[in-house]
Amino acid sequence: MNRRSLLLGSAAALLASPARAAVPKPYDWAAAPPMDSREAFVAWMQANRGEDPKFLGRRYDKFLDLVKLQDLWDAPTKRAYLMTPREEFVTAKNIEKAYQTHFMDIGFGVTITGPHSVCRMTNVLEISRGDKVLEIGNGSGYQSAVLSNLTDKVWTIEIIKPLFERTGAIYDRLIKAGYSEFAAITRKNADGYYGWEEAAPFNKIIVTCGIDHVPPPLLQQLKPGGLMVIPVGPPGAQHVLKIVKEVGEDKAIKVVRSDIYKGAIVNFVPFTKLVGEVVKGTHSN
Ligand SMILES: C[S@@+](CC[C@H](N)C(=O)[O-])C[C@H]1O[C@@H](n2cnc3c(N)ncnc32)[C@H](O)[C@@H]1O
Repeated sequence: MNRRSLLLGSAAALLASPARAAVPKPYDWAAAPPMDSREAFVAWMQANRGEDPKFLGRRYDKFLDLVKLQDLWDAPTKRAYLMTPREEFVTAKNIEKAYQTHFMDIGFGVTITGPHSVCRMTNVLEISRGDKVLEIGNGSGYQSAVLSNLTDKVWTIEIIKPLFERTGAIYDRLIKAGYSEFAAITRKNADGYYGWEEAAPFNKIIVTCGIDHVPPPLLQQLKPGGLMVIPVGPPGAQHVLKIVKEVGEDKAIKVVRSDIYKGAIVNFVPFTKLVGEVVKGTHSN
């Protein structure tokens, strides 16, 4: 066994894999779980998705916090959060903490983003079904899983190869179990600084690693009128910016930036760089 398969093997052993039966009903874009009662939500999800009531209850409790703290506000994004089994994307040692507030270690020196940041960043993008969305930093796979409950056109890039492969196996297992929405996620192992030229342009881009500037290729691959959310700033002290790409009548491009946390600092893992086949250093200047 070489070093890479050892790494992959040990990483696989650390994965959470809640015991589950197949999803009982086919995916229906028109269907949404009840949002006004914990009991009704858990019952609907058990009947339609076949999930564990323990995690469903925790998902609903976190939902109430997310709404109260204004990290989650519109109906499609609420539905996407409630439909996505976060417990499937954390590591085995953290499964009981799947719905805690903070980001958590997922191995390889990186983290699964906390649910509050995932929801606020997703909701800011105002994703409609049919939008083409690009994520930079697939990581655990959770963020793209949420996106696939908003649109059937999701692309995502992850720079760490063994993590990319491990997350691919999670999606494959869940698709087999009946989570057909995850089949809409197209993935590649690459340096996301350069975006995904062949699939561009995108209506929306979400960057889940921190950098000190907006990568020009990502701005270029955003459609006129498109939105991007991206943590920008020095290491460990980013501001999460909403970027709107406006194109004037004279065809001049104007970029309008606002801070989705009104000045608060949020930490993200660094936007790293691929040198040959090795992840080395970052794209920050
Ligand atoms: C906060 S973590 C994971 C967030 C992920 N969306 C999730 O929900 O688990 C950020 C991810 O960005 C990845 N990353 C960092 N630099 C990257 C780059 N240049 N291209 C693609 N992915 C990158 C990291 O390897 C890491 O998996």
